[in-house]
Amino acid sequence: MTQRILIIGAGQVGTILGKAWLACGHDVRFGVSAPDSPKHAELPRERLQPANERRDAEVVVLAVPYPIAQSALTALGDLTGLIVIDCTNPLAMGPNGLELTLGFDTSAGEQIAAGATGASVFKTLNQTGIENIPHAHAFQPKAMMFVAGDDEELKPVVLQLVADLGFDAIDAGPLRAARLLEPLAMLWINQAMQPGHPQGFAFAQVQRD
Ligand SMILES: NC(=O)c1ccc[n+]([C@@H]2O[C@H](COP(=O)([O-])OP(=O)(O)OC[C@H]3O[C@@H](n4cnc5c(N)ncnc54)[C@H](OP(=O)(O)O)[C@@H]3O)[C@@H](O)[C@H]2O)c1
Repeated sequence: MTQRILIIGAGQVGTILGKAWLACGHDVRFGVSAPDSPKHAELPRERLQPANERRDAEVVVLAVPYPIAQSALTALGDLTGLIVIDCTNPLAMGPNGLELTLGFDTSAGEQIAAGATGASVFKTLNQTGIENIPHAHAFQPKAMMFVAGDDEELKPVVLQLVADLGFDAIDAGPLRAARLLEPLAMLWINQAMQPGHPQGFAFAQVQRD
């Protein structure tokens, strides 16, 4: 089923996700701070809009740095009935390199949900490098992508959007499972940053007979 998707942030993640969902037939718009900026020249101008306008979006994707995700969502105004896909990872440089800035007793997904009254927040699409999204169909076995969220009625919509990209979309349970999915992303990043390690990998769930 076609979804009206608003992607906040047309950086690496926003642009790749938007193009992939457009190719699947979804109605995608990009919310950006400067729609007329030449840096968005590769995107169709009619699909660019100010980042603070929800318009008729059914799904909003937060493809911005975690520290500004909450304010980007608040700027949309009334969030009633909205599906929010949080693909942020709360990262910062620490003494040993890139690190998670929170975890164990909360998660970026839960922090975002706490300020998103009326919306249903789902954590997903944070668990592999974005360069793998256009090639998700190429993984054998299928690359997994967990989806965590509390709204069981709307979760199938998000699972389908993730499956549309070519992933093995797996229900990880309630949003508090984002506490596990953000460190899983950190594991991917840690592996990807090993000298000489290729970036074209993702995790998979395999079953024995
Ligand atoms: N890169 C990956 O492989 C990957 C994978 C999974 C998840 N993630 C997560 O996805 C998020 C985005 O990552 P990215 O690599 O796409 O970063 P990025 O390339 O730096 O893009 C971030 C975007 O956020 C925009 N932005 C900043 N403030 C904004 C605001 N107030 N309103 C609207 N847009 C705003 C920026 O637009 P301006 O240029 O106009 O400031 C930029 O286009 C991060 O949370 C990251 O942790 C990244």
